[in-house]
Amino acid sequence: MTGKEHLNYDTFEATVARSQKLEQDLEKNPGKYKMLTGDRPTGRLHIGHLFGSLLNRVRLHKLGVPTFIVIADYQVLTDRDVFKNISENVRQLTIDYLACGIDPARGNTYIFPHSYVPELNQLLLPFLTLVANAELDRNPTVKEEIAASGQKRINAGMYTYPVHQAADILFCKANVVPVGKDQLPHLELARTIARRFNDRFADKKPVFPEPQPLLSQAPVILGLDGSQKMSKSRNNAIMLSADEDETARLIKKAKTDSERVITYDPQNRPEVSNLLLLASLATGRRPEEIAEEIGDGGASKLKKLLTETLNEYLRPLREKRKELENNLDYIREVLNAGVAAARAEAVKTLEEVREVMDMKL
Ligand code: TRP
Repeated sequence: MTGKEHLNYDTFEATVARSQKLEQDLEKNPGKYKMLTGDRPTGRLHIGHLFGSLLNRVRLHKLGVPTFIVIADYQVLTDRDVFKNISENVRQLTIDYLACGIDPARGNTYIFPHSYVPELNQLLLPFLTLVANAELDRNPTVKEEIAASGQKRINAGMYTYPVHQAADILFCKANVVPVGKDQLPHLELARTIARRFNDRFADKKPVFPEPQPLLSQAPVILGLDGSQKMSKSRNNAIMLSADEDETARLIKKAKTDSERVITYDPQNRPEVSNLLLLASLATGRRPEEIAEEIGDGGASKLKKLLTETLNEYLRPLREKRKELENNLDYIREVLNAGVAAARAEAVKTLEEVREVMDMKL
């Protein structure tokens, strides 16, 4: 640590502006970029993930940007005492990605759990020495997760996983990371680690690029309770894997208000507006237009329309999902190929790291 340089969080507005510029350049020069994204394998994905982040990743993937998707299985161990079904969740997550349109057959597309990539994990050790304890302590996302975990004893993995996440991103020298707002502190840390590593060990020829966050333009999807973000643990989600009847049942129970005439007014009518937004995302029509069409048909007409349009929209994805669930050999193949490619990258990077740190035998 040099001490002269501080981890410094940009204003959100500056990050949004930079992200928009990056977005334009990605469309023009996809070949300049390498994308890395990831999730923890804590369960299946829902339509909040789909509209909030998955479609954005798939869009970049289809532009031809090389795509690395890390399944952060070690990170599951940071905020809970009970670890169940991690391998099943890894499979289900992979199935969700593929069903949404991530296709390894395009080439340069890899899905892998980070626990299978030892050389990636080894980067954690030098990286830990580039960060101060106090910096880890101050990470706002970690603070929130500690509060939400309800645990009395917080393990050291909780404070250090953002450094591990920097290894996830930097091992393959990714330069663009599509994320939600909550991940921005982690991205800032990854950028800082890249910079400090280069300054300290490789000032002539930098080893790591500074990865840039790409914020999704998609709005936050509320749960069917209309009051908080959609999330499986809050029991207000429609899973991609839900069938059509279950989807209908969930929408039927969704919270609305007592006004009969349907209007799109996210400020004052969050519940109804969220349903309209979902119908809009499923149809490509404007929410105001859908509201007008329903008019005094009330919440029941809105729910009927949403059920039909959402089920129709999800039908191909769900069919693909079923097919993949019946072809677990293929899923294993995808993961094995992902691990092999990720390892090859990580071995190369670790070699360079050893070289510049003067640790080679
Ligand atoms: N921390 C992320 C989450 O909570 C998951 C994650 C792990 C990740 N490694 C990553 C996201 C690398 C983007 C890039 O969901």
